[in-house]
Amino acid sequence: MSVVPNSEVQLLGQSNAVQTILSDVDCAARSGAKVLITGETGVGKEVVARLIHLRSARAAGRLVTVNCAGLPDSLLESELFGHVRGSFTGAYRDKPGLLEMAPNGTVFLDEVGEMSTRMQVVLLRFLETGEIQRVGADRSHIRVNVRLITATNRDLPKEIAAGNFREDLFFRLNVIRMHIPPLRERIEDVPLLFDHYLDYYCQQHRVARPQVSPGALDALMAYRWPGNIRELRNVAERLALKSSGQVLRPGDLPTEVVKPADRFEAAAAEGAAAAPSTSSPVEDLTGRMLRHGESFWSVVHPLFMARDLTRDDLRRIIEIGLENTNGNYRLLVALYNMPNEDYKRFLGFLRKHNCHLPFQRFRTIASRAQQTRPVAAAG
Ligand SMILES: Nc1ncnc2c1ncn2[C@@H]1O[C@H](COP(=O)(O)OP(=O)(O)OP(=O)(O)O)[C@@H](O)[C@H]1O
Ligand SMILES: [Mg+2]
Repeated sequence: MSVVPNSEVQLLGQSNAVQTILSDVDCAARSGAKVLITGETGVGKEVVARLIHLRSARAAGRLVTVNCAGLPDSLLESELFGHVRGSFTGAYRDKPGLLEMAPNGTVFLDEVGEMSTRMQVVLLRFLETGEIQRVGADRSHIRVNVRLITATNRDLPKEIAAGNFREDLFFRLNVIRMHIPPLRERIEDVPLLFDHYLDYYCQQHRVARPQVSPGALDALMAYRWPGNIRELRNVAERLALKSSGQVLRPGDLPTEVVKPADRFEAAAAEGAAAAPSTSSPVEDLTGRMLRHGESFWSVVHPLFMARDLTRDDLRRIIEIGLENTNGNYRLLVALYNMPNEDYKRFLGFLRKHNCHLPFQRFRTIASRAQQTRPVAAAG
């Protein structure tokens, strides 16, 4: 569960796309129907879910957010539905699930496309009956009145065709569908969003707000923003921290923004004619996180989900991180520029994709290596 102040829940944008989404939000808020929100990572799916809840008649109830990707199957079921005492090791007492904790409220199931087929069946059963059966109980326990909003960055019809997602569940969830286009398809929103977040972070960090030169604005608008608004937010914060009130010029922007070579995309667009990169994707990506402060969620996650990175690439990225942190996953979260509270989500993601490497061997490597060379810093 995450807590976001309501004042932070804003869907800014002057594009037609955002204006349409805002009117769809109002429409969805007037009904109690299920909503399925789709779109790439960082486009604002959670913002939309929150707005629907806040503008609905359920606003006085709770909004409970559950990230389906962050938890292994058994834990997800117990989080959602609760469990009875003794149902598994460590279940010392009966515990209500999150669905029960939002009576007359809204439950937001994020990354629903990551649910295992077994959990899909459990969710479907709940949607059909509205009844909660706690893990380890032999019958249902209570009926609840919650509204369900789900989100995914996967193409569910494609997942259905591939046998990874149940069609009957999809039809249940897909009552009101809202698709949020990526930022590169509504580039006219960039100046407003950048302005807003530059202001916001300059105030937060109490630094003078720089002017943005026309050249810098052009570069921001020419960039593809693979991590969408989350990435834009990070760039704005980094620039706020670097700035001392002077004019921001293209040269001040992060390299990936000014050289529209997100190298993979440029190479794909220009075919093999693109200047050959001397470093591997893994080196590029770890470099962006370690040297430029970009987050794992905006640099690695979208490429992996789009299958532009292999599982071996991801494992190598984790390996490099663990070599730097002496096998410590908590430090790795910080090293790859994720907030501390993403620790569970990050480990869940790695486990789900079989990329959670045992930390022990890095302990040995690191302690041996430390005798000969310093551990690389994140700076
Ligand atoms: N239109 C917008 N106006 C202002 N801020 C936005 C907008 N869209 C997104 N944001 C901000 O961008 C960040 C990412 O948004 P959000 O978490 O809703 O994305 P998401 O689609 O759920 O991403 P993911 O798939 O990675 O979970 C948040 O900090 C959010 O406040
Ligand atoms: Mg989200």
